[in-house]
Amino acid sequence: MSDVLKTIKVEKILICTISRPEVMNALNKEVLNSLKDLFEKARENNEIRGIILTGEGEKAFVAGADIKEFSSYGPMEAYKMSEKGQEIFSLIENFPKPVIAAVNGYALGGGCELALSCHIRIASKNAKFGQPEVNLGIIPGYGGTQRLPRIIGLGRAIELILTGKMIDSEEAFRIGLVNKVVEQNELIEESKKILNQIIEKAPIAIEMALNSIISGIEMTKEEGLKLERSNFANLFSTEDMKEGVSAFIEKRKPNFKGK
Ligand code: COA
Repeated sequence: MSDVLKTIKVEKILICTISRPEVMNALNKEVLNSLKDLFEKARENNEIRGIILTGEGEKAFVAGADIKEFSSYGPMEAYKMSEKGQEIFSLIENFPKPVIAAVNGYALGGGCELALSCHIRIASKNAKFGQPEVNLGIIPGYGGTQRLPRIIGLGRAIELILTGKMIDSEEAFRIGLVNKVVEQNELIEESKKILNQIIEKAPIAIEMALNSIISGIEMTKEEGLKLERSNFANLFSTEDMKEGVSAFIEKRKPNFKGK
């Protein structure tokens, strides 16, 4: 655990709070390194079956990369920074267990990109989303130009990135940027509820579903279908598949073991 990334484990869910409230939880190097470390460790930890990412306080999820770190940067430093952020956000996107962004306030720039790299986004009513980089004379550098159009469609992504405008949670829901909008005080409970619904399923099936969707979307349809059928077939060698099918036939709840 680090000062800028607080974690609490609630049963099989790890709740991670990005904590730099004095700067709206902006992502500096320390937060990025802590996120990398956390996801690498959580991947190997069988006691963790899902992650919720949120921000400290009621104002900001993450208000972007730390703009104050930019002032001394030239192209080389910027390239490295973007490369590192992209690597960490891809680690989150490709995480084999479900990750929910519980967006509790401003999700701007790198904060919006962080939410985009999570598998599901739940927002509080006061949440605001945007890619305001053009206001600084730059563009999104942590995957926003690639993930935003994949999630909300090309036309809407172009409009958001080129205007740099902010949208509220209702608009974010309407355009499919968030899955659900709830009251601030229900945000973590609602995120836990959704994760618990996923966690009670067979873990290897969840991992294979994520893999088929996240990797498949980058492939041609034929390649994606091939990936789907090999993941589908491999699941037939798991104990959990046998348990799931037997439980259905015997009219009981399955007891999945992750094997
Ligand atoms: N990086 C560094 N510091 C940031 C920051 C960021 N991305 N976002 C906010 N902060 C800091 C502010 O500089 C301010 O610090 P100060 O008290 O030392 O002046 C503090 O957080 C509070 O922010 P403030 O702007 O006073 O709050 P607000 O309620 O008026 O506005 C925002 C909130 C989020 C709308 C505004 O801070 C903002 O536009 N932030 C930048 C968003 C952005 O462009 N992100 C993309 C970066 S590539």
